Amino acid sequence: MAVFSAHAQVYEQRAPLLAVDKVSLAVQKGECFGLLGFNGAGKTTTFKMLTGEETITSGDAFVGGYSISSDIGKVRQRIGYCPQFDALLDHMTGRETLVMFARLRGIPERHIGACVENTLRGLLLEPHANKLVRMYSGGNKRKLSTGIALLGEPAVIFLDEPSTGMDPVARRLLWDTVARARESGKAIVITSHSMEECEALCTRLAIMVQGQFKCLGSPQHLKSKFGSGYSLRAKIRSDGQQEALEEFKGDATGWEASRGPPGAKRLSVEGAPNAQ
Ligand SMILES: Nc1ncnc2c1ncn2[C@@H]1O[C@H](COP(=O)(O)OP(=O)(O)O)[C@@H](O)[C@H]1O
Ligand SMILES: [Mg+2]
Repeated sequence: MAVFSAHAQVYEQRAPLLAVDKVSLAVQKGECFGLLGFNGAGKTTTFKMLTGEETITSGDAFVGGYSISSDIGKVRQRIGYCPQFDALLDHMTGRETLVMFARLRGIPERHIGACVENTLRGLLLEPHANKLVRMYSGGNKRKLSTGIALLGEPAVIFLDEPSTGMDPVARRLLWDTVARARESGKAIVITSHSMEECEALCTRLAIMVQGQFKCLGSPQHLKSKFGSGYSLRAKIRSDGQQEALEEFKGDATGWEASRGPPGAKRLSVEGAPNAQ
């Protein structure tokens, strides 16, 4: 079980930035907790704090009873971490990478072979096992990073956007793997930009905005609370049609105000060069 309380992370730049602001939660065994939020919301910083990559400005967190500020060594023995940006060695093969991490995890040598093969099979990486990591596609690197996080069955698993760049088949396999880990009693924290993914995996989720949790609950609860209304997505040409765009936004907002249920106001307009 992992307990995080009153976390705060201040990045010291010219003006200090409060990247994570008083986050407090507990994740139980057998739970998959989803962290959603725009880019820059503070999700990755939260993971970096929990894994000891960044020092915490104030607050503490406990993994299996061990504090990350005073017992980070013990904490690291109990966690698996798939960082947002793959931290892989280009000149090793996928199989070699997994063997190395299995040894680092302290898996007995006689079990390493089977453990690595299971991981490769589970994430459909067998055809690429003997290729150098620098030849891997983005999606295959994500699979390998996720495999490393799950190696040796750590009690707490942090997955930072594991499915980014994965094809739909790989994504399904990832979901199966994560669901199996959850069912076997691991505590998992995952970030994702896909509501579909969160619904498939998460028992609870939180939406993070500017370092703070804005809401927390089961996917169903959040959907029924915030999911009413209409969502309109339009693609427009961006070349010199700024006025037309503003006019369109005005019309659409008016349309929403007149037709949408109370509180419904969502409009996303994507501008892409030469989009139809
Ligand atoms: N090393 C750093 N130094 C200064 N600011 C940072 C650093 N890393 C992240 N930030 C800032 O902290 C905020 C949160 O970033 P991050 O945790 O990466 O968000 P997310 O993972 O939700 O996209 C952003 O405003 C980002 O620009
Ligand atoms: Mg991030």
